Amino acid sequence: MSETIESILDEHRSFKPPQGHQGNIASLQAYHSLCEAFSNDSDATWKDLATEHLNWKSPFSNVLNQQNAPFFRWFEGGTLNLSENCLDRHIDAGLGERNAIIWESEAGEVRHISYSELLANVCRAANAMLTLGIRAGDRVVIYMPMIPEAAITMLACTRIGAIHSVVFGAFSPQALKDRIEDTQARLVITADGGGRRGGVHALKPNVDAALSEGCQSVEHVLIVRHAGNDIEMKAQRDLNWHEALHAESEHCEPLAVDSEHPLFILYTSGSTGKPKGILHSTAGYLLWARLTMLWTFDFKPESDVFWCTADVGWITGHTYSVYGPLACGGTTVMYEGVPTYPDPGRLWKICADHDVTIFYTAPTAIRALIKAGDEWPNQHDLSGLRILGTVGEPINPEAWMWYHNVIGKGRCPIVDTWWQTETGGHMIAPLPYATPTKPGSATLPLPGIDIAVVDEEGQEVSDGGGLLVLRKPWPSMLRGVWGDDQRYIDTYWEKFKGKYYFAGDGARRDEDGYMWIMGRVDDVLNVSGHRLGTMEIESALVSHEAVAEAAVVGRPHDIKGEAVCAFVTLKGDVDDASAQALATQLRAHVTKEIGAIAKPDDIRFSNSLPKTRSGKIMRRLLRDIAAGREITSDTSTLEDQSVVQQLQKSR
Ligand code: WTA
Repeated sequence: MSETIESILDEHRSFKPPQGHQGNIASLQAYHSLCEAFSNDSDATWKDLATEHLNWKSPFSNVLNQQNAPFFRWFEGGTLNLSENCLDRHIDAGLGERNAIIWESEAGEVRHISYSELLANVCRAANAMLTLGIRAGDRVVIYMPMIPEAAITMLACTRIGAIHSVVFGAFSPQALKDRIEDTQARLVITADGGGRRGGVHALKPNVDAALSEGCQSVEHVLIVRHAGNDIEMKAQRDLNWHEALHAESEHCEPLAVDSEHPLFILYTSGSTGKPKGILHSTAGYLLWARLTMLWTFDFKPESDVFWCTADVGWITGHTYSVYGPLACGGTTVMYEGVPTYPDPGRLWKICADHDVTIFYTAPTAIRALIKAGDEWPNQHDLSGLRILGTVGEPINPEAWMWYHNVIGKGRCPIVDTWWQTETGGHMIAPLPYATPTKPGSATLPLPGIDIAVVDEEGQEVSDGGGLLVLRKPWPSMLRGVWGDDQRYIDTYWEKFKGKYYFAGDGARRDEDGYMWIMGRVDDVLNVSGHRLGTMEIESALVSHEAVAEAAVVGRPHDIKGEAVCAFVTLKGDVDDASAQALATQLRAHVTKEIGAIAKPDDIRFSNSLPKTRSGKIMRRLLRDIAAGREITSDTSTLEDQSVVQQLQKSR
């Protein structure tokens, strides 16, 4: 995204926070004093926040245990139940009739689910799991469309201490199988299908395919009847969700678990190997989900309607479609469908219809909607919006300005939030009524978060770009990589010898201390705000019988941010006509192995790949070629000089 980075570096506009609002953090001064409280006594500040914001069954005795770093332990000795904090607590406070979830389907069906109704369903689902023999610590894989039952299932797991692992519904049977096997899940919860672009995206057949070989750990599959597509039910193994829940009581005692009890595993791509199972634990994650809702979104649960467009298959959907808003006792909107169906005004119509006040989406969606034209948002009454958020990738200043002017009519602060699956919640973000914003900058670290930009040796850089690190542990940090402690250490802590958490992003801090995120510095692509490992896509390609070798890089893309470009060498020769057919086959093959989000946009065939004399693929060179840029890398170490011309011609 070279143009974008240059325009970001030239960006000098600044926008003051709107006046006349009583924000949860009301001024820059209030922000600085909270930051100061953390620097004076971080343990005491966390202790106060955790005591005030969470309902404990028994209090914690120790704020942070660093003895076994980087395996940190937070709020040791405390016990609590997450679903109780998200449900019972609000009902006890008299909010049982408040909408917890407003759900809309693509076809326009709407459901309002109150806190009392949500609790009753969560209890039934939790009891159904208990009946199936699921106990605390067991893993449950959730493979669902964006329907309330997805949130109900997640909360039901937390009620009994089961560990959920949500797998994004567009992932392939193979990807689902890998995750089931890695977690050794005993139960899979799915739906017959989900609504997408006016049709049905079948899910249950993918579960059948995933379970057809291996996956010995799975004893049962629970199926929500939703889309009405034909499905096969396997006797003994498969059960109907509605029947199972109907048979259960709507009361289920919440299990008090330890603060550090594993809460969920969510897979994400890295630069090496298969996706990693990022492990989060209960108290710290919940605390940060709630605090960031209150701080970054200035959430006022009594009057706000919050809508995060992310699917529950991603961390953004976990923290900000489900746990954050519910931990605060507020209303969250869920939409099952594509943003442009039946027309590009759909998101704005939903905002107007449900009186959404805080809206949170990804830059890729904003860019796609800019292209569709201003007439779409202009058809809807967006006057109820007060805060607009973005996440997932750097937002280019043009998109930021459009969001600000056309959607927010210049009234709504834009909160550009930087964070990761691993961080659990926001790390860098403006506070809407305190922090002046600059288009393209995620601005300042949140209180309690210690961010630095350092060079390869870990020295802080004052000028120019560097690597983004977190210098202190924080409550919602990942607790490890499921089943692979060494990989946790190697990926995040090895680079700076255990001293800093290495995020994998490049960043620059400007003269005001504002952070400008420059994108990944490793072999991870960010396609439409989704993380994809180049190696994962390469492995998928070489598993095709015709492929000898493959190298995958990103190239700038107007809407997706990055597009997937694959350079492929084949085992035999192919003529141009068969190359076309093979490219189509390879795209389908990657879709089958991983899912459509990983499907290469470009496939280029060549006789060999550019390598150094020591045999390393020259990725920078490939990135220049993919982008059609002038070649900036030194090609003198290239083993076969003619390969560059051949690749440039291979479009
Ligand atoms: C990128 C998504 C720039 C970044 C919550 C990070 C961002 C990766 C931003 C994590 C942002 C996320 N500005 N880049 N506001 N937010 N990223 O795990 O590269 O799916 O490392 O978590 O997305 O992606 P993940």
